[in-house]
Amino acid sequence: MIKIDDKKGIFLLYTKHSLMILQVIDGFVGMPYYGEKIRLAETEYLCRTNVRPFTPDKLSGEEISFQNTFPHAYPFYGCGNFRETAFRAEQENGTDTCCLRYIGCSTFKEKPKIPHLPQSFTKNCNTETLILYLHDEQAGVLAEISYTLFQDSDVIAQSVKIQNQGEYPVMLRRALSSCMYLEGDLELITLNGTWARERYIQREPVTYGVKSIGSINGTSSHVHNPFIAAVRPETTETQGEAWGMAFVYSGNFLACVEKDSQDKTQLMMGIHPETFCWELDSGKSFYSPEVLLNYSSRGLGRFSRNYHDFIRNHIIRSKYQYQERPVLVNSWEACYFDFDSEKLLCLADTALACGMDMLVIDDGWFGHREDDTSSLGDWVVNEEKIPEGMEWLGEQIQERNLKLGLWFEPEMISPDSDLFRKHPDWAVRIPDRGMTLGRNQCVLDLTRPEIRSYIFRSMADIIHEADVAYIKWDMNRQITEASTPSLPVHRQKEFFHRYMLGVYEIQERLLKTFPDLMIENCAGGGGRFDCGMLYYSPQIWCSDNTDACARAEIQLGTSLCYPPSCMGTHVSACPNHIIGRNTDFMTRAHVALAGTFGYELNLMRLKQAEIQQIQEQLKLYHAYSHLTREGSFYRLLQNAYHIAWQFVNPEHTETLVTLIQLRNKAFQPQMHLKLQGLIPDSLYKLDGKCYTGGQLMKIGLPVPPLWGDGVSSLFYLTIEMTEG
Ligand code: GLA
Repeated sequence: MIKIDDKKGIFLLYTKHSLMILQVIDGFVGMPYYGEKIRLAETEYLCRTNVRPFTPDKLSGEEISFQNTFPHAYPFYGCGNFRETAFRAEQENGTDTCCLRYIGCSTFKEKPKIPHLPQSFTKNCNTETLILYLHDEQAGVLAEISYTLFQDSDVIAQSVKIQNQGEYPVMLRRALSSCMYLEGDLELITLNGTWARERYIQREPVTYGVKSIGSINGTSSHVHNPFIAAVRPETTETQGEAWGMAFVYSGNFLACVEKDSQDKTQLMMGIHPETFCWELDSGKSFYSPEVLLNYSSRGLGRFSRNYHDFIRNHIIRSKYQYQERPVLVNSWEACYFDFDSEKLLCLADTALACGMDMLVIDDGWFGHREDDTSSLGDWVVNEEKIPEGMEWLGEQIQERNLKLGLWFEPEMISPDSDLFRKHPDWAVRIPDRGMTLGRNQCVLDLTRPEIRSYIFRSMADIIHEADVAYIKWDMNRQITEASTPSLPVHRQKEFFHRYMLGVYEIQERLLKTFPDLMIENCAGGGGRFDCGMLYYSPQIWCSDNTDACARAEIQLGTSLCYPPSCMGTHVSACPNHIIGRNTDFMTRAHVALAGTFGYELNLMRLKQAEIQQIQEQLKLYHAYSHLTREGSFYRLLQNAYHIAWQFVNPEHTETLVTLIQLRNKAFQPQMHLKLQGLIPDSLYKLDGKCYTGGQLMKIGLPVPPLWGDGVSSLFYLTIEMTEG
């Protein structure tokens, strides 16, 4: 609900459990409060108008200290705010000072669309959008700051539209999407790592100065995820306050946190200014991607579930979102580049015998690709490996009642490819400079429409020809030497954002052309795990690290923001191909069950007993996957020895608990695993024994000791009856 008091210049944005206050003081919009839902009476003092030097009154002569301490809802550069700013625009006279003053507001029942970008959608949910108009007369710039509230959620979607209403072009140097202010002691949580080690949780105190994370490599990146949370020092999984920002964008981003001289902390998120500028011609608009703001007063668990529900209901558009996904076997860790049609059909037959639904042919099926040195861009069948053609292979797979999935790396071009020989200028490069290779490959200039059309057409042809049900869209290198002949010299820094718009355009076109196609996004594992990609694909390959213990940690970190149902998870072979660890076969399945579930190992090498274990694992998947897809997720435990999590169905009558023993400890105390999300007075049954929800949550579930490292237990409890 949005309440506006025009006279006082107060905007109250109420979600289910939170309140954001925006207030106009002497023409500037501030954010004096964002937190728990409360009732308000007196509002005059909120932005501290009567205490020097915060007095905004110009006659006081204290404008600079006002600008530098005021909690600007959209901070701009140049008039005395020396903290990090969200907005900076260079004008005709070469200066980049702006003063964005409030000139009015509007509210909408229908959420306005953001053209060409992924964004939250409002299906089956009432929403309200508040747009605040901030204006700089000299530059002729109008900033429209938009906040959308969803009736079913505590998440607020924020974005900004910049319009050039002036006569001359302006050059946007900084156009971040969102800013919030918090008071009091805080800790910052970020998700960091690298390839095969994505999204490990870091929690640190917020101290004076600026702390930032971000990416300038062309993707949201393995190194930092476009998500941050601020929490109170005392906040745990089950109690305390937590605020968050998650970016609905997959390219270069900046998230920065600044504790200022007044002990206020400003959090901002948007496109990374270091690799960005945008020439905005007179009459044109620029749209910043959306940021999802989140608040919970009941710990990080509730905070994550807010995001999970929101992402499932308002970001992931795919019709597969709540559907049971086909269990697939992927050829990558099964045989890497070493396959032919005979081997693939053998893999398909074994997959079928195990009860799986889909064969995914990963890297190597196209051009003359035998290793990672060639053929990206030549999306035609590799006749050495599959001489009968892809249409034939598709038919063979369908005859077996299986579905076919194919791997593509559409954004890339190998120097050794027919495409490169024909169009060497299609690779991103700076004329007269060398090209820095990554994994022996270059990036296609997707800012150019003719290149996007080529990629779309070559993918569409093969998807059509072989009746492909699923594609894995991979992206395996960072972007360097960013440049494009499609833009004039002074607009070269528009490259990165235009590149992302190009990627989104191709995925959108594919989904429009093949409405039943399932896309799994991927970027060298989890290098582009973000809400932007989830708008196009219901799942993202979580990490190339499929070791069960490492994966449990990666998935747990990822779950801070993203729902487990969107995490691509496979059971793979041991010793693990990335870190060489051996874990129990069942543990690998237990970890994969907390995601989309599939296999990535050479089924032909398995012993009969292992095939039987796969059949058992598939039974678990079919019995419990509804909990992963529709249920709520609770992180129960994470320390050097154990990780435990739990899914609870929406009715709170069923729960699935997973305990992983990373390493064993001698003479461990009896473990009572404290569950969450149950009905206290209801009885839950496990192995013929009954426990009340209350006792499971307060005393805990008695867990039999586990033997060894990399082992696990799965507990499924259902309600027996309700007392009273
Ligand atoms: C990336 C992906 C892997 C696999 C390989 C193929 O690393 O993350 O899953 O598809 O590429 O080259």
